[in-house]
Amino acid sequence: MFSHLPPYAGDPILSLMEQFLRDERPGKVNLGIGIYADGQGAIPVLPSVRSVDQALAAVAAPYTYLPMEGHAGYRQAVAQLLFGADVPAPEHLAVVQTLGGSGALKVGADLIARFFPQPTIWIPDPTWDNHIGIFEGAGFKTERYPYYDAQTKGLAFDAMLAKLASLPKGAVVLLHPCCHNPTGVDPMREQWVQIIDTVEQRGLLPFFDLAYQGFAESLDEDVWAVRECVRRGIAFFLSNSFSKIFSLYGERVGALSVFCPQPGQAANVLGQLKLTVRRNYSSPPMHGALMVARVLSDAALRAQWQAEVEQMRVRVRDMRIKLSAQLKAAVPDRDFDFLLRQNGMFGYTGLSAAQVDRLRDEFGVYAVSSGRICVAGLNDGNVARVAEAMSGVLRG
Ligand code: LMR
Repeated sequence: MFSHLPPYAGDPILSLMEQFLRDERPGKVNLGIGIYADGQGAIPVLPSVRSVDQALAAVAAPYTYLPMEGHAGYRQAVAQLLFGADVPAPEHLAVVQTLGGSGALKVGADLIARFFPQPTIWIPDPTWDNHIGIFEGAGFKTERYPYYDAQTKGLAFDAMLAKLASLPKGAVVLLHPCCHNPTGVDPMREQWVQIIDTVEQRGLLPFFDLAYQGFAESLDEDVWAVRECVRRGIAFFLSNSFSKIFSLYGERVGALSVFCPQPGQAANVLGQLKLTVRRNYSSPPMHGALMVARVLSDAALRAQWQAEVEQMRVRVRDMRIKLSAQLKAAVPDRDFDFLLRQNGMFGYTGLSAAQVDRLRDEFGVYAVSSGRICVAGLNDGNVARVAEAMSGVLRG
């Protein structure tokens, strides 16, 4: 029956995690998957989340179904977090709770594929690997626009803008509002203005993917581009994830928001999103969303959580400084300041796939084959070892 099924080659990020867990070497370091670990190398349970979790556990609430679109209080709290003072009126905004950011991408992709036949999405080169899988899986053709310049280790801004300016009206364009995965290279504010000008002039449809709000500058600054589209009346899709910023990976908490500048359209968009959810998995799970809703809706808990996000952001920044300083000391003829210019959890090292293999095989340091490292996996106990391993492979 199944003899025609080929073996699965594995996922470039998730399979690496499995390999790391099987590795028995005591000094191994996991810089593969994008998971934030604290200064002791543990995945934190944020105290704000923990207190809500305990309060929820004390009440025997029934485990009923959520509606297809998810928990009402959660959806409201998410809109408030994403859009702040610019939160659009309900006739302009459709929000559904989803299975993490990936679920939001999938629901959005399915919706577009159903109503915009033979869709193409332009994704940055490079991007998160699974963007390709999710959109192609939903029937999209994927095309790339220039994003990263390997020479400057910065943004290939002119080429990016020229490509966007050449796209047909209605083209779907995937944009990372902050902390670009995998490069950590983000447009500056003036560059965002030009990107959004181009989107507006060409009538493009942005699909924002936001997994790291608050990890670059702040919760508000990091969504400036999204809010600017609201202010200008540009329609867009926005997937967001609470995996990293609430440290709730396994709870699969995310949302998909669709901004509809023309009044009256959001109700139909929401209806079609509900149908898409129903056909995929019926309705989302409850517990993680309840915790996020409670934290975001309570002033004191929200302030506490904001401080926790800031603490994570600052710790990662500190690790960037330590890693680049130690690399500089070990390989003085090379420049590692690019690590300080990147935002978010990831460092795009410029290491080749062969060098990444050596890092893993010879030193037990796991990174993604693109050369991406998760800086949030570094701590004072392993950064020297990682710097030594990286400088070892760089010296040849
Ligand atoms: C990553 O990029 O490592 C994370 O977003 C985890 C994943 O699902 O790939």
